[in-house]
Amino acid sequence: MPWPIHRPRRLRDHPGLRELIRETKVSPADLIYPIFVVSGQKIKKPIPSLPDQYHLSPDLAAALAQDFAKKGGKALILFGIPDHKDDKGASGAEAQGPVPLAIKAIKDKVPDLVVITDVCLCEYTSHGHCGLVEKGQVLNDPTLPLLAEQALAHAQAGADMVAPSDMMDGRVGAIRQTLDAAGYENIPIMAYSAKYASGFYGPFRDAAGSAPAFGDRKGYQMDPANRLEARLEVELDLAEGADIVMVKPAGYYLDIVREIRDLTNRPVAAYQVSGEMAMIKAASQIGVLDYKTVVLESLVSIKRAGADLILTYFAPEVLPWL
Ligand code: PBG
Repeated sequence: MPWPIHRPRRLRDHPGLRELIRETKVSPADLIYPIFVVSGQKIKKPIPSLPDQYHLSPDLAAALAQDFAKKGGKALILFGIPDHKDDKGASGAEAQGPVPLAIKAIKDKVPDLVVITDVCLCEYTSHGHCGLVEKGQVLNDPTLPLLAEQALAHAQAGADMVAPSDMMDGRVGAIRQTLDAAGYENIPIMAYSAKYASGFYGPFRDAAGSAPAFGDRKGYQMDPANRLEARLEVELDLAEGADIVMVKPAGYYLDIVREIRDLTNRPVAAYQVSGEMAMIKAASQIGVLDYKTVVLESLVSIKRAGADLILTYFAPEVLPWL
């Protein structure tokens, strides 16, 4: 008998055959594009730490949303940068804040686009922590009503889904109760469930001006060394009513994405964070990586690991490549 009998290369030679047997495909409907919104009009200010991302006023956020939808984009997630910050993050729940106004402007122009909002205090607090602070401690339970109020303000403005990213215990339940009590029982919650205390958020914190003024986030975000704890976080969020669970960051946490995929039948999202993008951009700029190849590889890897949805700054750029 000739040897070898099995030659996996037979199915690799022809590009068409390769496509026929491709196991994982990234499609436009998998991608959620994060954008940063501010108050005002006609503002489109580049964010130095996040190449190709902008601070956008609601009118120009709507214009960008329209452009994104024309290219085949399906969903955005909004981050608000308020005019004023205080120690309680009160501006996060204002009906006239940048996020509610941007939701309305986007919904006016592109009603079919899915508009998701990030819910957290860190963009709105003067100290940059994701919860209320007392004597250097980030308080859990007193933070919950503030997060719930913010989520409600987003739902009232027309958000299609809210996404709490603060990592306080019990916040999914608190938000669910508040939304339900106000008649928003059909607004889903995408929970940042396994969110790690990662060094890869650096560029985002510059963009949002949300770096903690003291200490770090290790008291509420997860230790990168822990896998079983990610299962626990997801189980708790699901028990509290989360509709979609998220792992964040994505690229260095593909084992966790797979773990969570195998744990639940709910949709799993993964957030390819600012530092993951920054590394790819920087390495491509100095000519050591081919940009398009590695961007697509990074996304297909996140899907292959088990993510149904990917939050990624590359979204508008990759749409024409898919
Ligand atoms: C916090 C939040 C962060 C990101 C999304 N939501 C930053 C943090 O936890 O410090 C990071 C996103 C990124 O790095 O792209 N509300």
